[in-house]
Amino acid sequence: MSEVGCAQPAEDIRMEKELQDLFGKWQGTKGSLIPILQGAQEIYGYLPKEVLLKIARELKLPPSRVFGVVTFYAQFHLEPRGRNIVKVCLGTACHVRGGSKIYERMQEVLGVGDGETTEDLRYTLETVACLGCCGLSPVVMVNDDTHGRMEPEDLKSIVDQYE
Ligand code: FES
Repeated sequence: MSEVGCAQPAEDIRMEKELQDLFGKWQGTKGSLIPILQGAQEIYGYLPKEVLLKIARELKLPPSRVFGVVTFYAQFHLEPRGRNIVKVCLGTACHVRGGSKIYERMQEVLGVGDGETTEDLRYTLETVACLGCCGLSPVVMVNDDTHGRMEPEDLKSIVDQYE
């Protein structure tokens, strides 16, 4: 089926305009690749391939350089991310207090593994090495909320609080 003539959804148009504004803001500025990537990720929630190609064209850089930077830094994401980021700590303090059981159960609850996002884009699951609150181990963080002294049976009701 041809897509020619299809109206572009308003959301796409808005994001494209914001991207063009971002290009305008950084036009002619040296070292603008990283801030443009950060800005584009804020607009789209991640960095779609076609957006990276537009950035490469705009900055007159080889696409391989842009992709190289994106894959080097953990802050950039090439896949859509969930509305809620669920982090399970597997650092030493959490590990000795059952962090791996928490992680196993969280994978069951969400139905995804490390670095993966649920199909409905509600959650992205990540493991981390320490969340800086070892006294509360084992720890799970959802967005900016810290949940300490977790038990596997607590997890479903916790993640269900986040739309
Ligand atoms: S090891 Fe888990 S919070 Fe530090």
